[in-house]
Amino acid sequence: MDYSHSPQFNNSTKRFENPNGEKIDRGFLEVFKVASNYIKRDYDEWENKGFPSINPSKEDLADFSESVIWIGHSTVLINHKGVTALTDPHFTKRAGPFGMMGPKRITPPPFNIEDLPKIDIILISHNHYDHLDKQSIIQLLQNQPRIKFFVPLGLSPILRSFGATEISEVDWWQSVECGGVNIQSTQVQHWSRRSFFDRNKTLWSGWMMSWEDFSFYFTGDSGFSGDFIKTAQRCGNPTLAAIPIGAYDPREFMKVAHMNPEEAVRTFQDLGAKYAFAIHWGTFKLSLEPMDEPPMQLNISLEKAGIHHSKFKCLKHGEQWRSPF
Ligand SMILES: [Fe+2]
Repeated sequence: MDYSHSPQFNNSTKRFENPNGEKIDRGFLEVFKVASNYIKRDYDEWENKGFPSINPSKEDLADFSESVIWIGHSTVLINHKGVTALTDPHFTKRAGPFGMMGPKRITPPPFNIEDLPKIDIILISHNHYDHLDKQSIIQLLQNQPRIKFFVPLGLSPILRSFGATEISEVDWWQSVECGGVNIQSTQVQHWSRRSFFDRNKTLWSGWMMSWEDFSFYFTGDSGFSGDFIKTAQRCGNPTLAAIPIGAYDPREFMKVAHMNPEEAVRTFQDLGAKYAFAIHWGTFKLSLEPMDEPPMQLNISLEKAGIHHSKFKCLKHGEQWRSPF
């Protein structure tokens, strides 16, 4: 596909790029070393038992309004003023192709996908398997075929192949009005790949949802950069932000693509968010830090920054945070 109109698209390589030059290209030997360290990793008790979660009932979910639930990893359910949105829906057992490969889920989803309330909007951050899950989307569309999807450049074909029909594909900073909400794609530092041959052929994105009286920022998947200051300048300060805190070790390898808890706190500050909660931890074993380390490090970083933990919460899987935020 030709995306030459996009400032993020390199016309010679036909691939998207981070404007700050962060390529996230790794040599074979480096990838091999990290992969073998992952395979030989120390025993992590959380991988076997998962994290305790809160399991909302069907009735709770049917009445879901004016609140947010962290379902797990980067899957967030949020409702404001009658509009319900879901981010990067993932309810299956593995983050990989064919449902058999890739890291396995260690904390089960807190409820069945069929029990979700009516969803108006789905935001997709990028095409990595832990964020774009074919089976979850197919299942969702079986019950709710009219969901509107918002995706970064290049992701329409794969969403259509999953059965989605209402898709808005946008570049960074473009926005679409939908049911009284302004939905704007935001610049983040990451990359994309779904197979051996499609590295960075599709874009990655954060998302700002702005109502008249409330806004929600979904970071998606991102390394720490100056992007969040730019986001606040262009989209305003979010009322509530979902910020990733996990999958950061080995640091040199991961830091371009994934922020650590200290950087998550800086992201919160750069966004000028009123409130935030942590995502992207405790669900899939993607990296080498112990699975319970991100929330502990988040607390330390919040304390250092003088931010009360009621402002930047570490919710349990399935936990609901009700407005007022
Ligand atoms: Fe990713």
